[in-house]
Amino acid sequence: MDQNITPHVLPTACDFTVFGGTGDLALRKLLPALYHRDLEGQLPADYRILGVSRSDLDDAGWRAEVRTALGVHVDAADLYDGAVDRFLARLFHLNLDAEAPEDWDRFHALLKDRPHPEEAVRVFYLAVAPKLFGSICQRLDEIGVVDEHARVVLEKPIGHDLASAREVNDAVGRVFAEPQIFRIDHYLGKESVQNLLVTRFANTFLEPLWNSRWVDHVEITVSETVGVGGRGEYYDNAGALRDMVQNHLLQLLCLVAMEPPTYVGRETVRDEKVKVLQALRPMAAEDVDRDTVRGRYDAGLVDGVAVPSYADDLGHGGSRTETFVALKTEVQNWRWAGVPFYLRTGKRMDRRASEIVVVFKEPPHSMFPGAEGTTAPNRLHILVQPDEGMRLHLTAKEPGPGGYRLRPVSLDLSYATAFDARLPDAYERLLMDVIKGNPTLFMRRDEVEAAWTWTEPILRRWAATPERPKRYPAGTAGPTSAAMLLERDGRTWTEPDQ
Ligand code: BG6
Repeated sequence: MDQNITPHVLPTACDFTVFGGTGDLALRKLLPALYHRDLEGQLPADYRILGVSRSDLDDAGWRAEVRTALGVHVDAADLYDGAVDRFLARLFHLNLDAEAPEDWDRFHALLKDRPHPEEAVRVFYLAVAPKLFGSICQRLDEIGVVDEHARVVLEKPIGHDLASAREVNDAVGRVFAEPQIFRIDHYLGKESVQNLLVTRFANTFLEPLWNSRWVDHVEITVSETVGVGGRGEYYDNAGALRDMVQNHLLQLLCLVAMEPPTYVGRETVRDEKVKVLQALRPMAAEDVDRDTVRGRYDAGLVDGVAVPSYADDLGHGGSRTETFVALKTEVQNWRWAGVPFYLRTGKRMDRRASEIVVVFKEPPHSMFPGAEGTTAPNRLHILVQPDEGMRLHLTAKEPGPGGYRLRPVSLDLSYATAFDARLPDAYERLLMDVIKGNPTLFMRRDEVEAAWTWTEPILRRWAATPERPKRYPAGTAGPTSAAMLLERDGRTWTEPDQ
């Protein structure tokens, strides 16, 4: 059978190990996601969750931490005493010092301490600093726990630039074959992002319009109200381009721009996404100066609450790290040549809203002479968060006698009302895919490296210029020069509530 479409089966036994088991990601996202899937009865009949960390905790201590985390991160309506207790009983904690061989022996013993250990699918989720990826994989190999059913999950960032991404990929690749490596980009697990594929390719009406003949431009906005919080050290070494654009925003762009694969299979979607990344207009130094804007937040008001500047959040003011990026690019292929793709993302903005807006061209001819009212080009909004859905802006006749009064109206699809079901968190879908061995929604090595290849010249140019990121007050839409990026092309950003 074609490897692309062999069914993904739930194993009967699984040991799901989280390195960084007491960390923020594990407690805030991974364990709540696994709890929800357990509640739905979707985890393998015989599963264990092994938390590995440097914390001096026994099983009971870790279970208590996880119980508290579930209380914070799971809706109260989904917390049933029996279910929580049943879930916690599957959890085991191992205090491990990565440099201590005897600790690795204890880990090995823990993995073996179950009925038929050779039949259990082993998942190793590395929710730790990327500099540890290579050495952890090497240790796993040395203690002999990597068989052909094992899987490793890598959290971003995969590297800091192209060379370091290659190093990470090489180090992990020495132990795990590419199909066993799951590089997670949680945006691909969001319902509305997956629905983008379905909207484009399970319907006929959009496809004939989805090209440079009918599309004027595309905007992708991921705007956050949070600051850098407790992640200052990581963030100050990364910045918005590495933290958000190189992965999440480029992945969204790929799904908007890609060609239809013959079918959705393990490699077919990823094959098409890579082609988009390879078709992005390369950024020469003058393109970077003209088509990118960097910003950094000052103190301000977010939702009426006073918040400190980035420098105060960090506790020092020296870095040139950007907390906001806006840029213009183009997909240089037959379908998209000449259509600008405008991307922007920032922290401490005026609202939390992520959306993709496809703005269509004006009708070729206006056939309503003397019409009153206003018209606007058609726009399709794909609402990624906070409220998932879709909105199509059309021009309609305002009811009433007399002449034509034209008015923009919108067709709204809200997932929450259209589907009477809880929308799972992105990690729930992705962790199930890991357990079942389905890599379709994970980034393949060539994708990550193609994304770095395009991003790196921007980083290089920024590092080479004395210019610093433009300041913007927290609680605004970013620096004014971000607006200029579109205004000079005769366009404006579509704000999320428009
Ligand atoms: C993470 C970034 O990958 O995505 C964070 O490291 C960012 O800086 C987060 O806040 C945004 O995710 P979401 O799902 O809240 O949009």
